[in-house]
Amino acid sequence: MRSPYLRAPGSPVRVVGHRGALALAPENTVAAFETAVRCGADAIEFDVQRTADGVPVVIHDERLDRTTTGTGRVSELRFHEIRALDAGAWFGQRFAGLRVPSLDELLTWAGPRAIDLMLELKQPVPASGEPRDEELAPAALGAVRARGLLERTLFISFDHPTIAQLVGLDPSARTALLTEGPALVDPLSPARAVDGTLGVHVRWRWVSRELCDAAHAAGMHVHAWGLGRPIPPEAVRRLVDFGIDSLSADAPDELLRLLAAEGSLAPATTTAPG
Ligand code: G3P
Ligand code: CA
Repeated sequence: MRSPYLRAPGSPVRVVGHRGALALAPENTVAAFETAVRCGADAIEFDVQRTADGVPVVIHDERLDRTTTGTGRVSELRFHEIRALDAGAWFGQRFAGLRVPSLDELLTWAGPRAIDLMLELKQPVPASGEPRDEELAPAALGAVRARGLLERTLFISFDHPTIAQLVGLDPSARTALLTEGPALVDPLSPARAVDGTLGVHVRWRWVSRELCDAAHAAGMHVHAWGLGRPIPPEAVRRLVDFGIDSLSADAPDELLRLLAAEGSLAPATTTAPG
């Protein structure tokens, strides 16, 4: 299947708010997602893992310590225990009282809004010694399906077997593979290993013209992630010149301003195959 996220000639680069808009509001909270919408982002990126009692929740770290008033592993606490924690005060007192959203709460919020979803399935890294959560993909897929948001959701993961599992569960689910880089002899080799995946999401420093050309020739999109603050304008200019389809940033407002100033909301420089 040809990726629906390919940038057609003349269409703008899609802008995605990383963990909502993590430079502007507490990451992965409704406040961050509202901020991304206000900035004019096309999509929000967010992280999903499951609690001890199997509830998919929206949080980045394996542990609660950095972004909530709690402590310990997300997978070891029950939903009602995580729900009792404050997920906003660490970022600023005006955000005090925000909660860790359940995936279902986020999907309910997104339903009536004009925003696409980039749902990262967070699995433990192998070196942590924690096992992969085999129920994560089915649980997230079920929640997205139940809210009728399958066509607005792109599932991504650094854990490619989880993406392969998801494609197996529902070949119509939109998926892409996350990688850190690096430059590969065959830049599409990770994607070739997962039949039916739509694109590759690569840390921006490792995106190349070769990667974009190979992906586009195969009908796949390329997304660049990892743009912090300040965003280097020359890098964005280069990525657009390579033919990047979408970009995510911690500050989507800054990225949108930059793209507008650079004229990068203008026609793509490469032509995706018809
Ligand atoms: O979209 C990819 C990006 O979110 C991966 O990094 O650490 O923010 O999940 P991280
Ligand atoms: Ca993420």
